[in-house]
Amino acid sequence: VRKPTPEDRFSFGLWTVGWTARDQFGEASRPALDPWEYATKLAELGAWGVTFHDDDVVPFGSDDATRENILKTFKKAVDDAGLVVEMVTTNTFSHPVFKDGAFTSNDRSVRRFALRKILRNVDLAAEMGAETFVMWGGREGSEYDGAKDVHAALDRYREGIDAVAGYIKDKGYGLRIALEPKPNEPRGDIFLPTVGHALGFIAELENGDIVGLNPETGHEQMAGLNYTHGLAQALWSDKLFHIDLNGQRSIKYDQDLAFGHGDLLSAFFTVDLLENGFPGGGPTYTGPRHFDYKPSRTEGMDGVWDSAAANMEMYLLLAEKAKAYRADPEVQEAMEAAGVLELSEPTLGDGETLADLLADSSAFEDFDADAAARREYGFVRLNQLAMRHLIG
Ligand code: GCO
Ligand code: MN
Ligand code: MN
Ligand code: MN
Repeated sequence: VRKPTPEDRFSFGLWTVGWTARDQFGEASRPALDPWEYATKLAELGAWGVTFHDDDVVPFGSDDATRENILKTFKKAVDDAGLVVEMVTTNTFSHPVFKDGAFTSNDRSVRRFALRKILRNVDLAAEMGAETFVMWGGREGSEYDGAKDVHAALDRYREGIDAVAGYIKDKGYGLRIALEPKPNEPRGDIFLPTVGHALGFIAELENGDIVGLNPETGHEQMAGLNYTHGLAQALWSDKLFHIDLNGQRSIKYDQDLAFGHGDLLSAFFTVDLLENGFPGGGPTYTGPRHFDYKPSRTEGMDGVWDSAAANMEMYLLLAEKAKAYRADPEVQEAMEAAGVLELSEPTLGDGETLADLLADSSAFEDFDADAAARREYGFVRLNQLAMRHLIG
C-alpha cells in the first residue's frame, strides 16, 4: 500500500499519540513528550493535520505569559512541519472542577467558568486557522438519575452551545461546532449519547446552522449502533462536519483501537461511504480523515508511531478495496439485482398525489403481495462479494 500524503488529509489528535497510557488501574507506561514533538513526527509519517484540546498544549492554569510562549513554540513547529491545525477542542473533563459536568454542572459557577474556558479556546481555534470546533461533553451526564434534572440540563446544554455558536458568529470566525456523541465513560450516562440524540438536540438550537456532528466509530458501537448508518444520517441532515475514526470491538469500555482493528467489515463500509458516497448519489463527506485512537498501554514509543501509521494504512487499504468493490461489474450486477439503486426512486410518481395513489388499484387492490414476497434480494451474495474484495 502506498505511503500517506498530505492530499489524503489524515489528521490526529495530539492526545492520541500523546497518551502516556495512564488508566483506571495503572500508572503511565510511556514518557510525555512536548506537544510539538508529536506534531513533527506525525508530519513525517504523512499526516496532514493535527488537532488538540487547549490543555494538551498549555497545561491547565498556566499564566498568560507561559501560555503565549508555549503557543508560539507550538505554532512554529506546526508551521515548520507543514501541518494544518484543522480542529481545536476544549478539555472540560480532566480537572475535578468538571466532575459534575461543564455546561450541565449543577453548580452555576462551574457552568460560567466552563463557558469562559471554552470561549477563550474559540479565540485560539480561530487564531490557529481551524475550521472545526469539537465539543465532546464527556462529563455532561450522571451516574444517578435522581441527581440530575435532565430537562434543566438540556436547557443549560442548549444555552451553552447557543452561546458559543453565537460568539463565533459575532466574531465572524470561520468555525463550525461539531458535537461528539458518546453513550457513557467517563459518566455513567452521558447526555447526547448517540448521533440521533445529538441531531434532535441540534434541531432545537437557535444557532444550529453552524452546529453539526463529530461522530466517533467506537462511541456509536459502544451503544450497539451501526457507525456507518450514523455517518449516513448525519450526511443526510447535512450535519457531518467532522469524524473521529478508530476501532471498537462490541459493547464494552471505550477501546479507542486503531481504525479497522475493531469491526473490520464495518470499517470497510465506513470507508466505502466516505470515499465513494451513497450508491444512489447525495451529499458526500469532504472533511478531514481524523483519527481519535489510543496506542495500547503495552506499546512504547515505537509502538506509538507504528500504531499511528497503522490507522492511515488501514484507511488506505480499505479505500483501495472499496474502490475495487464499487468498480467490479459483478458487484454492480448484484447491486442491481438487490434493488439497491431502485431505492432512489421516489415512492410516489412525479406529480402523483395521495388521491392518485388511493385510486391506483395496482398499488393495493390488485397488488399481489404473495408474488412480491417471492422476490429474492440476494443481499448475502452481495455481502459475500464485499468480503471477497475485503479479504480475498
Ligand atoms: C473519547 C473521546 C474524546 C474526544 C476528545 C475531543 O474517546 O472519549 O473521543 O477523546 O474525542 O476529547 O474532545
Ligand atoms: Mn473514544
Ligand atoms: Mn473522539
Ligand atoms: Mn478519544
